[in-house]
Amino acid sequence: MTQKKKPSDLRSRQWFNNPEESELTAMYLERYMNYGLTREELGMKKPIIAIAQTGSDLSPCNRHHLELSKRLRDGIISAGGTVMEIPVHPIQETGKRPTATLDRNLAYLSLVESLFGYPIDGVVLNIGCDKTTPALLMAAATVNIPAIAFSVGPMLNGWFNGKRTGSGTIVWTAREMLARGEIDESELIDLIASSAPSTGFCNTMGTASTMNSLAEALGMQLPGSAAIPAPYRERGQMAYATGKRIVDMVWQDLKPSDIMTRKSFENAIAVNSAIGGSTNAPIHLNAIAAHLGLELNNQDWQDIGYDIPLLVNLQPAGEYLGEDYHHAGGVPAVINEMMAHDLLPHPDAATVNGASIGENCANTKITNTDVIRPLDNPLQQKAGFIHMTGNVFDSAIMKSSVISADFRARYLENPDDPNALQGTAIVFDGPEHFHHSIDDPALNITENSILFMRGTGPLGYPGAAEVVNMRPPNYLLKAGIDALPCIGDGRQSGTSGSPSILNASPEAAAGGPLAIIQNGDPIRIDLNTGEVLLQIPDTEIEARFEKLVRDGGYPIPDSQTPWQQYFRALSGPLSDGMLLQDAQNYQNIAAK
Ligand code: FES
Ligand code: MG
Repeated sequence: MTQKKKPSDLRSRQWFNNPEESELTAMYLERYMNYGLTREELGMKKPIIAIAQTGSDLSPCNRHHLELSKRLRDGIISAGGTVMEIPVHPIQETGKRPTATLDRNLAYLSLVESLFGYPIDGVVLNIGCDKTTPALLMAAATVNIPAIAFSVGPMLNGWFNGKRTGSGTIVWTAREMLARGEIDESELIDLIASSAPSTGFCNTMGTASTMNSLAEALGMQLPGSAAIPAPYRERGQMAYATGKRIVDMVWQDLKPSDIMTRKSFENAIAVNSAIGGSTNAPIHLNAIAAHLGLELNNQDWQDIGYDIPLLVNLQPAGEYLGEDYHHAGGVPAVINEMMAHDLLPHPDAATVNGASIGENCANTKITNTDVIRPLDNPLQQKAGFIHMTGNVFDSAIMKSSVISADFRARYLENPDDPNALQGTAIVFDGPEHFHHSIDDPALNITENSILFMRGTGPLGYPGAAEVVNMRPPNYLLKAGIDALPCIGDGRQSGTSGSPSILNASPEAAAGGPLAIIQNGDPIRIDLNTGEVLLQIPDTEIEARFEKLVRDGGYPIPDSQTPWQQYFRALSGPLSDGMLLQDAQNYQNIAAK
Protein backbone atom coordinates (compact mmCIF):
# COMPACT_ATOMS: atom_id res chain seq x y z
CA MET A 1 0.00 0.00 0.00
CA THR A 2 1.28 3.43 -0.82
CA GLN A 3 2.38 5.99 1.69
CA LYS A 4 -0.02 8.91 1.63
CA LYS A 5 1.34 11.03 4.45
CA LYS A 6 4.62 12.88 4.85
CA PRO A 7 5.98 13.85 8.27
CA SER A 8 4.83 17.41 7.63
CA ASP A 9 1.23 16.12 7.32
CA LEU A 10 1.15 14.54 10.77
CA ARG A 11 -1.69 15.77 12.94
CA SER A 12 0.63 16.01 15.95
CA ARG A 13 2.68 18.67 14.15
CA GLN A 14 -0.12 21.13 14.88
CA TRP A 15 0.91 20.85 18.53
CA PHE A 16 4.64 20.26 18.34
CA ASN A 17 5.81 22.00 15.22
CA ASN A 18 3.48 24.82 14.42
CA PRO A 19 5.34 27.91 13.15
CA GLU A 20 2.23 30.06 13.56
CA GLU A 21 1.99 29.27 17.26
CA SER A 22 5.64 29.01 18.25
CA GLU A 23 5.07 29.92 21.90
CA LEU A 24 2.37 27.31 22.31
CA THR A 25 4.49 24.76 20.49
CA ALA A 26 7.30 25.38 22.94
CA MET A 27 4.93 24.96 25.87
CA TYR A 28 3.53 21.66 24.60
CA LEU A 29 7.03 20.39 23.93
CA GLU A 30 8.36 21.43 27.32
CA ARG A 31 5.61 19.52 29.16
CA TYR A 32 5.83 16.35 27.13
CA MET A 33 9.61 16.45 27.45
CA ASN A 34 9.43 16.67 31.23
CA TYR A 35 9.24 12.93 31.57
CA GLY A 36 12.14 12.36 29.23
CA LEU A 37 10.81 12.51 25.70
CA THR A 38 13.20 14.23 23.28
CA ARG A 39 12.79 16.61 20.37
CA GLU A 40 13.50 13.66 18.11
CA GLU A 41 10.46 11.83 19.45
CA LEU A 42 8.12 14.81 19.39
CA GLY A 43 6.90 16.57 16.34
CA MET A 44 9.64 15.89 13.85
CA LYS A 45 9.31 12.71 11.83
CA LYS A 46 7.62 10.30 14.20
CA PRO A 47 3.87 9.71 14.44
CA ILE A 48 2.52 9.84 17.98
CA ILE A 49 0.65 6.62 18.69
CA ALA A 50 -1.75 6.40 21.61
CA ILE A 51 -2.35 3.15 23.41
CA ALA A 52 -5.92 3.47 24.69
CA GLN A 53 -5.31 1.62 27.95
CA THR A 54 -8.32 -0.20 29.36
CA GLY A 55 -6.33 -2.37 31.77
CA SER A 56 -6.29 -1.48 35.47
CA ASP A 57 -6.80 -3.06 38.87
CA LEU A 58 -10.49 -2.17 38.56
CA SER A 59 -10.71 -4.05 35.27
CA PRO A 60 -9.38 -7.56 35.85
CA CYS A 61 -10.54 -8.86 32.46
CA ASN A 62 -8.37 -6.27 30.72
CA ARG A 63 -5.64 -5.98 33.35
CA HIS A 64 -3.18 -8.05 31.30
CA HIS A 65 -3.11 -5.19 28.80
CA LEU A 66 -0.77 -3.43 31.27
CA GLU A 67 1.77 -6.17 30.54
CA LEU A 68 1.01 -6.57 26.85
CA SER A 69 1.34 -2.84 26.24
CA LYS A 70 5.09 -3.23 26.75
CA ARG A 71 5.14 -5.33 23.59
CA LEU A 72 2.83 -2.89 21.83
CA ARG A 73 5.34 -0.14 22.70
CA ASP A 74 8.23 -2.20 21.35
CA GLY A 75 6.38 -2.64 18.07
CA ILE A 76 5.44 1.04 17.80
CA ILE A 77 8.97 2.23 18.56
CA SER A 78 10.59 -0.29 16.23
CA ALA A 79 8.44 1.02 13.38
CA GLY A 80 9.43 4.61 14.11
CA GLY A 81 6.55 5.84 16.26
CA THR A 82 6.38 7.56 19.63
CA VAL A 83 4.06 6.12 22.28
CA MET A 84 1.62 7.92 24.54
CA GLU A 85 -0.34 5.51 26.72
CA ILE A 86 -3.64 7.08 27.71
CA PRO A 87 -6.14 5.95 30.34
CA VAL A 88 -9.64 4.92 29.35
CA HIS A 89 -12.50 5.17 31.84
CA PRO A 90 -12.80 1.66 33.37
CA ILE A 91 -15.65 -0.64 32.33
CA GLN A 92 -15.57 -3.95 34.19
CA GLU A 93 -18.56 -6.12 33.41
CA THR A 94 -18.55 -7.90 36.75
CA GLY A 95 -17.70 -4.98 39.03
CA LYS A 96 -19.50 -1.88 37.92
CA ARG A 97 -22.79 -1.01 39.60
CA PRO A 98 -25.55 -0.71 38.64
CA THR A 99 -24.35 -2.04 35.28
CA ALA A 100 -21.28 -1.82 33.05
CA THR A 101 -23.27 -0.81 29.99
CA LEU A 102 -24.02 2.47 31.71
CA ASP A 103 -20.37 3.37 31.19
CA ARG A 104 -20.00 2.37 27.55
CA ASN A 105 -21.13 5.81 26.44
CA LEU A 106 -19.07 7.54 29.15
CA ALA A 107 -15.88 5.76 28.07
CA TYR A 108 -16.77 6.59 24.48
CA LEU A 109 -17.20 10.29 25.24
CA SER A 110 -14.00 10.55 27.23
CA LEU A 111 -11.91 8.70 24.65
CA VAL A 112 -13.27 10.92 21.87
CA GLU A 113 -12.09 13.95 23.85
CA SER A 114 -8.66 12.40 24.48
CA LEU A 115 -8.07 11.41 20.87
CA PHE A 116 -9.44 14.64 19.44
CA GLY A 117 -7.96 17.10 21.87
CA TYR A 118 -4.39 15.82 22.14
CA PRO A 119 -1.51 15.41 19.69
CA ILE A 120 -2.32 11.89 18.50
CA ASP A 121 -1.79 10.51 14.99
CA GLY A 122 -2.98 6.95 15.47
CA VAL A 123 -4.33 4.72 18.23
CA VAL A 124 -4.17 1.13 19.42
CA LEU A 125 -7.49 0.17 21.02
CA ASN A 126 -6.92 -2.20 23.94
CA ILE A 127 -10.13 -4.21 23.77
CA GLY A 128 -11.35 -7.13 25.87
CA CYS A 129 -14.12 -7.17 28.50
CA ASP A 130 -17.60 -6.79 27.04
CA LYS A 131 -18.20 -3.06 26.75
CA THR A 132 -14.58 -2.01 26.26
CA THR A 133 -14.66 -3.19 22.64
CA PRO A 134 -17.71 -1.20 21.51
CA ALA A 135 -16.73 1.90 23.53
CA LEU A 136 -13.31 2.05 21.88
CA LEU A 137 -14.52 1.23 18.37
CA MET A 138 -17.27 3.87 18.69
CA ALA A 139 -14.67 6.48 19.68
CA ALA A 140 -12.35 5.48 16.84
CA ALA A 141 -15.32 5.74 14.47
CA THR A 142 -16.17 9.27 15.60
CA VAL A 143 -12.62 10.65 15.60
CA ASN A 144 -11.56 8.67 12.51
CA ILE A 145 -7.80 8.72 12.93
CA PRO A 146 -5.92 5.50 12.02
CA ALA A 147 -6.86 2.90 14.62
CA ILE A 148 -6.19 -0.78 15.19
CA ALA A 149 -7.86 -2.97 17.79
CA PHE A 150 -5.87 -5.32 19.98
CA SER A 151 -7.57 -8.00 22.13
CA VAL A 152 -6.27 -8.91 25.55
CA GLY A 153 -7.37 -12.48 24.76
CA PRO A 154 -9.59 -14.95 26.59
CA MET A 155 -8.71 -16.68 29.85
CA LEU A 156 -7.40 -20.22 29.73
CA ASN A 157 -10.02 -22.98 29.86
CA GLY A 158 -11.59 -23.51 33.28
CA TRP A 159 -11.79 -27.04 34.70
CA PHE A 160 -13.72 -28.61 37.58
CA ASN A 161 -13.85 -32.35 38.25
CA GLY A 162 -12.42 -33.02 34.81
CA LYS A 163 -15.03 -30.94 33.00
CA ARG A 164 -14.67 -27.57 31.26
CA THR A 165 -16.16 -24.72 33.26
CA GLY A 166 -16.91 -21.62 31.22
CA SER A 167 -16.74 -18.15 32.73
CA GLY A 168 -20.14 -16.58 33.16
CA THR A 169 -21.98 -19.64 31.91
CA ILE A 170 -21.05 -21.64 35.00
CA VAL A 171 -22.72 -19.00 37.18
CA TRP A 172 -26.12 -19.80 35.71
CA THR A 173 -25.54 -23.54 36.09
CA ALA A 174 -24.19 -23.18 39.63
CA ARG A 175 -27.19 -21.09 40.71
CA GLU A 176 -29.54 -23.76 39.45
CA MET A 177 -27.49 -26.46 41.24
CA LEU A 178 -27.67 -24.45 44.46
CA ALA A 179 -31.42 -24.00 44.02
CA ARG A 180 -31.81 -27.76 43.55
CA GLY A 181 -29.74 -28.39 46.68
CA GLU A 182 -26.98 -30.20 44.75
CA ILE A 183 -24.18 -27.94 46.07
CA ASP A 184 -23.72 -25.64 49.05
CA GLU A 185 -22.50 -22.01 49.08
CA SER A 186 -18.82 -22.84 49.43
CA GLU A 187 -18.96 -25.38 46.59
CA LEU A 188 -20.73 -22.72 44.57
CA ILE A 189 -17.76 -20.36 44.99
CA ASP A 190 -15.21 -23.08 44.14
CA LEU A 191 -17.14 -24.06 41.07
CA ILE A 192 -17.48 -20.50 39.81
CA ALA A 193 -13.84 -19.62 40.59
CA SER A 194 -12.66 -22.60 38.53
CA SER A 195 -14.02 -20.89 35.44
CA ALA A 196 -11.59 -17.96 35.77
CA PRO A 197 -8.20 -19.70 35.90
CA SER A 198 -6.02 -16.95 34.42
CA THR A 199 -5.84 -13.39 33.25
CA GLY A 200 -8.01 -12.51 30.23
CA PHE A 201 -11.66 -12.10 29.31
CA CYS A 202 -14.46 -14.69 29.55
CA ASN A 203 -13.45 -17.93 27.85
CA THR A 204 -17.02 -18.65 26.71
CA MET A 205 -18.67 -17.20 23.61
CA GLY A 206 -20.10 -14.43 25.77
CA THR A 207 -20.16 -10.79 24.83
CA ALA A 208 -16.38 -10.42 25.17
CA SER A 209 -15.39 -13.29 22.82
CA THR A 210 -18.18 -12.18 20.53
CA MET A 211 -17.12 -8.55 20.32
CA ASN A 212 -13.43 -9.42 20.00
CA SER A 213 -14.22 -11.89 17.20
CA LEU A 214 -16.40 -9.29 15.51
CA ALA A 215 -13.68 -6.63 15.80
CA GLU A 216 -11.55 -9.06 13.76
CA ALA A 217 -14.41 -9.83 11.34
CA LEU A 218 -14.92 -6.08 10.88
CA GLY A 219 -11.30 -5.90 9.78
CA MET A 220 -10.13 -3.86 12.78
CA GLN A 221 -7.67 -6.43 14.21
CA LEU A 222 -4.80 -8.32 12.65
CA PRO A 223 -5.91 -11.75 11.42
CA GLY A 224 -5.98 -14.40 14.12
CA SER A 225 -5.75 -11.87 16.93
CA ALA A 226 -9.13 -12.29 18.63
CA ALA A 227 -8.88 -15.85 19.93
CA ILE A 228 -5.30 -16.15 21.22
CA PRO A 229 -5.59 -16.78 24.98
CA ALA A 230 -4.25 -13.95 27.13
CA PRO A 231 -1.28 -15.80 28.70
CA TYR A 232 -0.04 -17.42 25.46
CA ARG A 233 3.29 -16.53 23.86
CA GLU A 234 1.50 -15.59 20.62
CA ARG A 235 -0.44 -12.89 22.45
CA GLY A 236 2.75 -10.93 23.14
CA GLN A 237 3.93 -11.51 19.59
CA MET A 238 0.61 -10.25 18.26
CA ALA A 239 1.04 -7.14 20.42
CA TYR A 240 4.40 -6.43 18.78
CA ALA A 241 2.97 -6.92 15.27
CA THR A 242 -0.01 -4.68 16.12
CA GLY A 243 2.28 -1.93 17.38
CA LYS A 244 4.34 -2.04 14.21
CA ARG A 245 1.29 -2.05 12.00
CA ILE A 246 -0.39 1.06 13.45
CA VAL A 247 2.63 3.17 12.53
CA ASP A 248 2.37 2.06 8.90
CA MET A 249 -1.38 2.73 9.00
CA VAL A 250 -0.67 6.34 9.94
CA TRP A 251 1.64 6.79 6.93
CA GLN A 252 -0.94 5.08 4.72
CA ASP A 253 -3.71 7.18 6.27
CA LEU A 254 -5.84 4.05 6.68
CA LYS A 255 -8.75 5.17 8.83
CA PRO A 256 -11.68 3.42 10.58
CA SER A 257 -14.06 4.70 7.90
CA ASP A 258 -11.94 2.97 5.21
CA ILE A 259 -12.26 -0.35 7.04
CA MET A 260 -15.60 -0.33 8.86
CA THR A 261 -17.88 0.00 5.84
CA ARG A 262 -21.38 -1.38 5.35
CA LYS A 263 -19.67 -4.41 3.76
CA SER A 264 -17.64 -5.17 6.86
CA PHE A 265 -20.69 -4.83 9.13
CA GLU A 266 -22.55 -7.32 6.93
CA ASN A 267 -19.59 -9.70 7.25
CA ALA A 268 -19.62 -9.25 11.02
CA ILE A 269 -23.34 -10.07 11.23
CA ALA A 270 -22.82 -13.30 9.27
CA VAL A 271 -19.80 -14.24 11.40
CA ASN A 272 -21.80 -13.53 14.55
CA SER A 273 -24.27 -16.27 13.59
CA ALA A 274 -21.50 -18.75 12.77
CA ILE A 275 -19.78 -18.19 16.12
CA GLY A 276 -23.03 -18.18 18.14
CA GLY A 277 -22.40 -14.58 19.19
CA SER A 278 -24.06 -12.62 21.97
CA THR A 279 -27.34 -10.71 21.76
CA ASN A 280 -25.38 -7.68 22.91
CA ALA A 281 -23.70 -7.56 19.48
CA PRO A 282 -26.58 -5.82 17.66
CA ILE A 283 -26.69 -3.08 20.30
CA HIS A 284 -22.99 -2.36 19.92
CA LEU A 285 -22.54 -2.83 16.17
CA ASN A 286 -25.62 -0.74 15.42
CA ALA A 287 -24.01 1.99 17.55
CA ILE A 288 -20.57 1.77 15.93
CA ALA A 289 -22.16 1.91 12.48
CA ALA A 290 -24.23 4.96 13.42
CA HIS A 291 -21.07 6.80 14.48
CA LEU A 292 -19.69 6.16 10.99
CA GLY A 293 -22.88 7.45 9.39
CA LEU A 294 -23.93 3.95 8.27
CA GLU A 295 -27.45 2.50 8.46
CA LEU A 296 -27.62 -0.72 10.45
CA ASN A 297 -30.66 -2.01 12.32
CA ASN A 298 -32.07 -5.11 13.98
CA GLN A 299 -33.86 -6.23 10.81
CA ASP A 300 -30.45 -6.37 9.06
CA TRP A 301 -29.38 -8.90 11.69
CA GLN A 302 -32.18 -11.24 10.74
CA ASP A 303 -31.95 -10.59 6.98
CA ILE A 304 -28.18 -11.12 6.80
CA GLY A 305 -27.58 -13.42 9.74
CA TYR A 306 -30.55 -15.72 10.27
CA ASP A 307 -29.77 -18.34 7.62
CA ILE A 308 -26.12 -18.77 8.64
CA PRO A 309 -25.43 -22.05 10.48
CA LEU A 310 -23.73 -22.28 13.85
CA LEU A 311 -20.18 -23.59 13.44
CA VAL A 312 -18.36 -22.73 16.65
CA ASN A 313 -18.99 -25.24 19.41
CA LEU A 314 -18.34 -22.97 22.39
CA GLN A 315 -20.35 -22.59 25.58
CA PRO A 316 -23.07 -21.42 26.15
CA ALA A 317 -24.49 -22.81 22.87
CA GLY A 318 -21.95 -25.67 22.73
CA GLU A 319 -19.26 -27.46 24.72
CA TYR A 320 -15.81 -25.97 24.35
CA LEU A 321 -13.95 -22.83 25.48
CA GLY A 322 -11.51 -20.17 24.30
CA GLU A 323 -8.31 -22.21 24.14
CA ASP A 324 -10.08 -24.82 22.02
CA TYR A 325 -11.39 -22.08 19.70
CA HIS A 326 -7.87 -20.72 19.19
CA HIS A 327 -6.34 -24.15 18.56
CA ALA A 328 -9.08 -24.99 16.07
CA GLY A 329 -8.19 -21.93 13.96
CA GLY A 330 -10.13 -19.03 15.52
CA VAL A 331 -11.88 -16.39 13.43
CA PRO A 332 -9.85 -16.97 10.21
CA ALA A 333 -10.81 -20.66 10.11
CA VAL A 334 -14.49 -19.79 10.61
CA ILE A 335 -14.36 -17.19 7.85
CA ASN A 336 -12.47 -19.47 5.47
CA GLU A 337 -15.08 -22.17 5.95
CA MET A 338 -17.85 -19.64 5.34
CA MET A 339 -16.11 -18.42 2.17
CA ALA A 340 -15.80 -21.95 0.83
CA HIS A 341 -19.61 -22.10 0.86
CA ASP A 342 -20.21 -18.53 -0.28
CA LEU A 343 -21.57 -17.51 3.12
CA LEU A 344 -19.30 -14.54 3.76
CA PRO A 345 -21.14 -11.63 2.15
CA HIS A 346 -18.04 -9.58 1.21
CA PRO A 347 -14.65 -11.31 1.06
CA ASP A 348 -13.26 -8.14 -0.55
CA ALA A 349 -13.87 -5.96 2.56
CA ALA A 350 -10.78 -4.08 3.73
CA THR A 351 -8.85 -4.76 6.94
CA VAL A 352 -6.17 -3.05 9.00
CA ASN A 353 -3.29 -4.98 7.45
CA GLY A 354 -4.08 -3.65 3.98
CA ALA A 355 -5.27 -7.00 2.61
CA SER A 356 -8.93 -7.95 2.25
CA ILE A 357 -10.61 -10.16 4.85
CA GLY A 358 -10.87 -12.87 2.19
CA GLU A 359 -7.14 -12.73 1.45
CA ASN A 360 -6.33 -12.81 5.16
CA CYS A 361 -8.43 -15.88 5.91
CA ALA A 362 -7.97 -17.90 2.71
CA ASN A 363 -6.42 -21.31 3.40
CA THR A 364 -6.79 -21.14 7.19
CA LYS A 365 -7.85 -24.70 7.81
CA ILE A 366 -10.04 -25.84 10.68
CA THR A 367 -7.73 -28.02 12.78
CA ASN A 368 -10.38 -29.47 15.08
CA THR A 369 -13.69 -30.13 13.37
CA ASP A 370 -15.57 -30.72 16.60
CA VAL A 371 -14.71 -27.27 17.95
CA ILE A 372 -15.22 -25.45 14.65
CA ARG A 373 -17.63 -27.52 12.66
CA PRO A 374 -17.42 -27.72 8.89
CA LEU A 375 -20.49 -26.43 7.09
CA ASP A 376 -21.66 -29.92 6.19
CA ASN A 377 -21.89 -30.74 9.91
CA PRO A 378 -22.99 -27.57 11.74
CA LEU A 379 -24.27 -27.49 15.31
CA GLN A 380 -27.43 -25.91 14.02
CA GLN A 381 -28.83 -24.64 10.73
CA LYS A 382 -30.20 -21.08 10.67
CA ALA A 383 -28.47 -19.93 13.83
CA GLY A 384 -28.90 -16.18 13.54
CA PHE A 385 -31.10 -13.78 15.43
CA ILE A 386 -34.80 -13.44 14.91
CA HIS A 387 -36.01 -9.86 14.84
CA MET A 388 -39.19 -9.80 16.89
CA THR A 389 -41.95 -7.17 16.67
CA GLY A 390 -45.63 -7.10 17.66
CA ASN A 391 -47.89 -5.10 19.97
CA VAL A 392 -45.70 -5.43 23.06
CA PHE A 393 -42.64 -3.67 21.58
CA ASP A 394 -41.41 -2.40 18.21
CA SER A 395 -38.15 -4.29 18.13
CA ALA A 396 -36.49 -7.10 20.09
CA ILE A 397 -33.94 -9.81 19.40
CA MET A 398 -34.03 -13.55 19.97
CA LYS A 399 -30.96 -15.75 19.70
CA SER A 400 -32.07 -18.94 18.00
CA SER A 401 -28.82 -20.84 18.65
CA VAL A 402 -29.49 -21.21 22.37
CA ILE A 403 -32.98 -22.70 22.04
CA SER A 404 -32.29 -26.18 23.38
CA ALA A 405 -33.66 -29.33 21.74
CA ASP A 406 -35.63 -29.98 24.91
CA PHE A 407 -37.18 -26.50 24.85
CA ARG A 408 -37.93 -26.84 21.15
CA ALA A 409 -39.60 -30.22 21.65
CA ARG A 410 -41.63 -28.98 24.59
CA TYR A 411 -42.82 -25.70 23.11
CA LEU A 412 -42.20 -25.42 19.41
CA GLU A 413 -42.88 -28.74 17.79
CA ASN A 414 -46.63 -28.80 18.07
CA PRO A 415 -47.66 -30.07 14.61
CA ASP A 416 -50.70 -27.74 14.55
CA ASP A 417 -48.68 -24.66 15.24
CA PRO A 418 -44.97 -25.23 14.67
CA ASN A 419 -42.67 -22.49 15.87
CA ALA A 420 -45.33 -20.79 17.95
CA LEU A 421 -46.23 -20.94 21.60
CA GLN A 422 -49.06 -19.70 23.70
CA GLY A 423 -48.73 -18.85 27.37
CA THR A 424 -49.70 -16.53 30.16
CA ALA A 425 -47.67 -13.61 31.43
CA ILE A 426 -45.91 -13.43 34.78
CA VAL A 427 -44.44 -9.97 35.19
CA PHE A 428 -41.44 -8.82 37.22
CA ASP A 429 -40.50 -5.17 37.76
CA GLY A 430 -36.73 -5.47 37.88
CA PRO A 431 -34.31 -8.16 39.09
CA GLU A 432 -34.89 -7.50 42.80
CA HIS A 433 -38.61 -8.18 42.37
CA PHE A 434 -37.74 -11.35 40.43
CA HIS A 435 -35.32 -12.67 43.07
CA HIS A 436 -37.76 -12.02 45.90
CA SER A 437 -40.79 -13.59 44.32
CA ILE A 438 -39.78 -16.19 41.72
CA ASP A 439 -40.16 -19.06 44.19
CA ASP A 440 -43.43 -17.74 45.65
CA PRO A 441 -46.08 -20.44 45.00
CA ALA A 442 -48.79 -17.78 45.01
CA LEU A 443 -47.59 -16.63 41.57
CA ASN A 444 -48.69 -20.00 40.26
CA ILE A 445 -45.95 -20.21 37.64
CA THR A 446 -46.41 -23.27 35.43
CA GLU A 447 -44.66 -24.60 32.38
CA ASN A 448 -47.09 -22.51 30.33
CA SER A 449 -45.93 -19.28 31.91
CA ILE A 450 -43.99 -16.65 29.99
CA LEU A 451 -41.76 -14.59 32.27
CA PHE A 452 -41.61 -10.85 31.64
CA MET A 453 -38.91 -8.56 33.00
CA ARG A 454 -39.42 -4.81 32.71
CA GLY A 455 -37.93 -1.67 34.17
CA THR A 456 -34.53 -2.92 33.01
CA GLY A 457 -33.92 -0.95 29.82
CA PRO A 458 -31.49 1.97 29.41
CA LEU A 459 -33.74 4.37 31.37
CA GLY A 460 -35.26 1.99 33.89
CA TYR A 461 -32.04 0.43 35.12
CA PRO A 462 -29.60 2.95 33.86
CA GLY A 463 -27.56 1.34 31.11
CA ALA A 464 -29.89 -1.67 30.77
CA ALA A 465 -29.35 -4.67 33.01
CA GLU A 466 -28.40 -8.19 31.91
CA VAL A 467 -31.28 -9.83 33.71
CA VAL A 468 -33.78 -11.14 31.20
CA ASN A 469 -32.42 -14.68 31.45
CA MET A 470 -34.72 -15.75 34.30
CA ARG A 471 -34.63 -19.20 35.83
CA PRO A 472 -37.89 -21.05 36.51
CA PRO A 473 -39.00 -21.42 40.14
CA ASN A 474 -37.27 -24.13 42.17
CA TYR A 475 -40.27 -26.46 42.08
CA LEU A 476 -40.24 -26.44 38.26
CA LEU A 477 -36.46 -26.91 38.16
CA LYS A 478 -36.83 -29.93 40.43
CA ALA A 479 -39.51 -31.25 38.07
CA GLY A 480 -37.05 -31.03 35.17
CA ILE A 481 -38.28 -27.79 33.57
CA ASP A 482 -35.00 -25.91 33.24
CA ALA A 483 -36.12 -23.03 31.02
CA LEU A 484 -39.21 -20.92 30.50
CA PRO A 485 -39.67 -18.38 27.70
CA CYS A 486 -38.54 -14.93 28.86
CA ILE A 487 -39.23 -11.49 27.42
CA GLY A 488 -37.82 -8.21 28.63
CA ASP A 489 -36.66 -4.69 28.02
CA GLY A 490 -33.25 -5.45 29.50
CA ARG A 491 -30.42 -7.44 28.05
CA GLN A 492 -29.16 -10.97 28.50
CA SER A 493 -25.64 -11.91 29.33
CA GLY A 494 -23.93 -13.39 26.31
CA THR A 495 -22.84 -16.25 28.56
CA SER A 496 -26.43 -17.29 29.24
CA GLY A 497 -28.18 -19.98 27.28
CA SER A 498 -31.69 -18.85 28.10
CA PRO A 499 -34.28 -18.78 25.27
CA SER A 500 -35.16 -15.13 25.73
CA ILE A 501 -36.57 -12.25 23.76
CA LEU A 502 -34.42 -9.31 24.71
CA ASN A 503 -33.56 -5.69 24.25
CA ALA A 504 -37.28 -4.96 23.77
CA SER A 505 -37.69 -1.37 22.66
CA PRO A 506 -39.33 0.92 23.59
CA GLU A 507 -38.81 -0.06 27.21
CA ALA A 508 -41.49 0.18 29.90
CA ALA A 509 -39.83 3.26 31.43
CA ALA A 510 -40.03 5.02 28.05
CA GLY A 511 -43.78 4.36 27.84
CA GLY A 512 -43.59 1.10 25.88
CA PRO A 513 -46.50 -1.39 26.07
CA LEU A 514 -44.48 -3.70 28.34
CA ALA A 515 -45.57 -1.30 31.07
CA ILE A 516 -49.22 -2.37 30.82
CA ILE A 517 -48.84 -6.16 30.81
CA GLN A 518 -50.34 -7.90 33.83
CA ASN A 519 -49.98 -11.35 35.38
CA GLY A 520 -52.24 -13.79 33.60
CA ASP A 521 -52.45 -11.93 30.28
CA PRO A 522 -52.54 -14.34 27.31
CA ILE A 523 -49.44 -14.04 25.13
CA ARG A 524 -48.58 -15.61 21.79
CA ILE A 525 -44.99 -15.90 20.58
CA ASP A 526 -44.66 -16.80 16.90
CA LEU A 527 -41.16 -17.47 15.67
CA ASN A 528 -42.38 -17.82 12.07
CA THR A 529 -43.77 -14.33 11.83
CA GLY A 530 -41.41 -12.94 14.46
CA GLU A 531 -44.29 -11.58 16.53
CA VAL A 532 -45.09 -11.35 20.22
CA LEU A 533 -48.76 -10.55 20.72
CA LEU A 534 -50.57 -9.48 23.86
CA GLN A 535 -53.99 -11.00 23.20
CA ILE A 536 -56.36 -8.68 24.99
CA PRO A 537 -58.93 -6.35 23.38
CA ASP A 538 -57.68 -3.00 22.03
CA THR A 539 -60.14 -1.21 24.28
CA GLU A 540 -58.51 -2.85 27.30
CA ILE A 541 -55.04 -1.86 26.03
CA GLU A 542 -56.22 1.75 25.66
CA ALA A 543 -57.79 1.77 29.11
CA ARG A 544 -54.59 0.45 30.70
CA PHE A 545 -52.48 3.09 28.92
CA GLU A 546 -54.86 5.83 30.14
CA LYS A 547 -54.49 4.55 33.67
CA LEU A 548 -50.70 4.40 33.32
CA VAL A 549 -50.63 8.05 32.25
CA ARG A 550 -52.97 9.04 35.11
CA ASP A 551 -50.66 7.26 37.53
CA GLY A 552 -47.66 9.21 36.28
CA GLY A 553 -46.18 6.58 33.96
CA TYR A 554 -43.95 3.61 34.69
CA PRO A 555 -41.79 4.49 37.70
CA ILE A 556 -38.16 5.43 37.03
CA PRO A 557 -35.89 5.28 40.10
CA ASP A 558 -33.88 8.34 41.10
CA SER A 559 -30.47 8.74 39.53
CA GLN A 560 -27.66 8.11 42.01
CA THR A 561 -24.93 10.03 40.17
CA PRO A 562 -24.77 12.95 37.76
CA TRP A 563 -23.77 10.64 34.92
CA GLN A 564 -26.82 8.43 35.50
CA GLN A 565 -28.98 11.52 35.12
CA TYR A 566 -27.22 12.66 31.91
CA PHE A 567 -27.30 9.12 30.56
CA ARG A 568 -31.05 8.86 31.14
CA ALA A 569 -31.69 12.23 29.60
CA LEU A 570 -29.62 11.58 26.50
CA SER A 571 -29.54 7.87 25.64
CA GLY A 572 -31.71 6.20 23.02
CA PRO A 573 -33.33 2.73 22.94
CA LEU A 574 -31.37 -0.54 22.74
CA SER A 575 -32.73 -1.20 19.25
CA ASP A 576 -30.85 1.86 17.96
CA GLY A 577 -27.67 1.02 19.84
CA MET A 578 -28.39 3.10 22.96
CA LEU A 579 -26.73 6.06 21.26
CA LEU A 580 -26.14 9.36 22.98
CA GLN A 581 -28.42 11.91 21.42
CA ASP A 582 -26.74 13.83 18.56
CA ALA A 583 -23.37 12.10 19.05
CA GLN A 584 -23.64 10.40 15.68
CA ASN A 585 -23.80 13.81 14.04
CA TYR A 586 -20.11 14.23 14.85
CA GLN A 587 -18.24 12.27 12.20
CA ASN A 588 -14.67 12.29 10.94
CA ILE A 589 -13.94 15.02 13.47
CA ALA A 590 -10.13 14.88 13.38
CA ALA A 591 -10.21 15.97 9.73
CA LYS A 592 -12.18 19.14 10.48
FE1 FES B 1 -15.11 -9.30 31.55
FE2 FES B 1 -16.65 -11.48 30.81
S1 FES B 1 -16.73 -10.30 32.62
S2 FES B 1 -15.06 -10.48 29.80
MG1 MG C 1 -22.00 -9.72 29.99
